[in-house]
Amino acid sequence: MHEARAALRKGTAADHGRLDALFGGFRLSNPQDYRAFLTAHAMALTAVEQALDAAGFASTLEDWPDRKRGDAVAADLSAIGEAMPTTLSAPPLDTSAAQWGAAYVIEGSRLGGALLARSVPEGMPKSYLGSAQPPGSWRKFLDNLDKALPLPQDVAHATESARATFGLFEQAGKMVRGATD
Ligand code: HEM
Repeated sequence: MHEARAALRKGTAADHGRLDALFGGFRLSNPQDYRAFLTAHAMALTAVEQALDAAGFASTLEDWPDRKRGDAVAADLSAIGEAMPTTLSAPPLDTSAAQWGAAYVIEGSRLGGALLARSVPEGMPKSYLGSAQPPGSWRKFLDNLDKALPLPQDVAHATESARATFGLFEQAGKMVRGATD
């Protein structure tokens, strides 16, 4: 079951660990840290979503448009009086495997996001971290991911793209961290 996901999870575990440590350093109960956290995520997330849109990912995954959270993070930033930051440059997503690898990272980030949302104080906007999906949405994504990556070389290519996508969030986190230190 979900072999492609198991391989992606293993192949990106070290990258996830670095991000967990980096973003775990933002205290989301502190408005300034939360603002910085959202800014970093907006920089990377919008880049990846735009690259997936440009690659026509909606014709690959039919509910892709409903999964996007660029508007949610923009709404949260606007609600706390912060401008949308400049989007970073996304790595190329010119193959289906690369698109799936990138989509895995941003969809998977919802899992941790749901936990993180609990640290955001009442009264602060949390459409991005709190954005719920219909039940079964992650499982449905993983079913499609497995079908899309039948061969080991597809999984290898998707893992490379997933690692680059994690790298984009790391770059954004470090840029914002540097600015607040
Ligand atoms: C403080 C920061 C973070 C924490 C505490 C965290 C925590 C978690 C947790 C607890 C899970 C597993 C949830 C479950 O299995 O139900 C998870 C999964 C995941 N997270 Fe994070 N996360 C963080 C940041 C991120 C970021 C920034 C990204 C990418 C942009 C990300 C991508 C993923 C992915 C792809 C998975 C799915 C792994 C799988 O296949 O099971 N995480 N995270």
